[in-house]
Amino acid sequence: MSAYPALRLRRTRATAWSRRLHAETVLTPADLIWPLFIAEGDGVEEPIAALPGVSRWSVAGIVARGREARDLGIPCVALFPNTPHHLRSDDGAEALNPDNLMCRAIRALKDAVPEVGVLTDVALDPYTTHGHDGLVDAAGYVVNDRTADALVRQALNQARAGSDIVAPSDMMDGRIGLIRTALEGEGHVNVQIMSYAAKYASAFYGPFRDAVGSRGLLKGDKKSYQMDSANAEEALREVALDLDEGADTVMVKPGLPYLDIIQRVKARFGVPVFAYQVSGEYAMIEAAVAAGAGERDALVLETLMAFKRAGCSGVLTYHAAHAARLLGA
Ligand code: PBG
Repeated sequence: MSAYPALRLRRTRATAWSRRLHAETVLTPADLIWPLFIAEGDGVEEPIAALPGVSRWSVAGIVARGREARDLGIPCVALFPNTPHHLRSDDGAEALNPDNLMCRAIRALKDAVPEVGVLTDVALDPYTTHGHDGLVDAAGYVVNDRTADALVRQALNQARAGSDIVAPSDMMDGRIGLIRTALEGEGHVNVQIMSYAAKYASAFYGPFRDAVGSRGLLKGDKKSYQMDSANAEEALREVALDLDEGADTVMVKPGLPYLDIIQRVKARFGVPVFAYQVSGEYAMIEAAVAAGAGERDALVLETLMAFKRAGCSGVLTYHAAHAARLLGA
């Protein structure tokens, strides 16, 4: 006679206090890493058209963002330089200069706000005239082993400047082990490696390439080193190798289109997994907001919560400061 259910899952959803009490996943400012773009010069703020609301800052501005991160409870920032074009070359040698834009920003941050972690990208693309992450041969192919040697030297250069986490984003084979050995050899035993372990050749990186000034330069595409979006088993092999070589943490990139990869990596390896909600994902949310298709605060928090639910320890996101403000309120 009774068609009514005894168990009503709506019961615990009926009030705000109860929804809070039953939340299975939490999102806090401590889950966020804030990517920052560095500009050459003094007192410079350059808005990035492809990333509305995001600017490049000269070193003093980067330090101000570091203080903002600290005050908002964001534990870590990630740095990307827009290397002046006259300093770019075929071999990206500026990446090895101890006084390059990246190293100056690392030193200034560690000096002013040592309590905020600094993550630095290891790859040659912001320094090369061809826009690739490594060294290219006459046919335009990015060669693996010579590139890995250059990346080792780049990682050491960043560690000597004070980087807390080196994050190789290049997808060369074998570079994690080489970098770990070199860091240990110089006594950088507590410098972490966050490997961009499963990084896909993605159409979502466009605005980033504007931000670091490499879009017009890039010859061809990055499909001979970044992964094919068709592949998931291969992502697990990449993660296994990087962990074996000494990666402390692994990253999946881009974010939302690859939540399945995040979940599988977490389930298989049980290690700290990070997601990079990349530039095109940020731009997509901003475009949706501008078109009236959604409300920014809700879109930002819902997407970030999805990463936590999938198993992430944290997320790199250009919305970090905004999200931290929402979460801290
Ligand atoms: C380059 C690098 C890229 C991003 C982070 N590191 C771009 C690329 O591989 O072309 C993309 C980040 C973003 O789109 O927000 N090594």
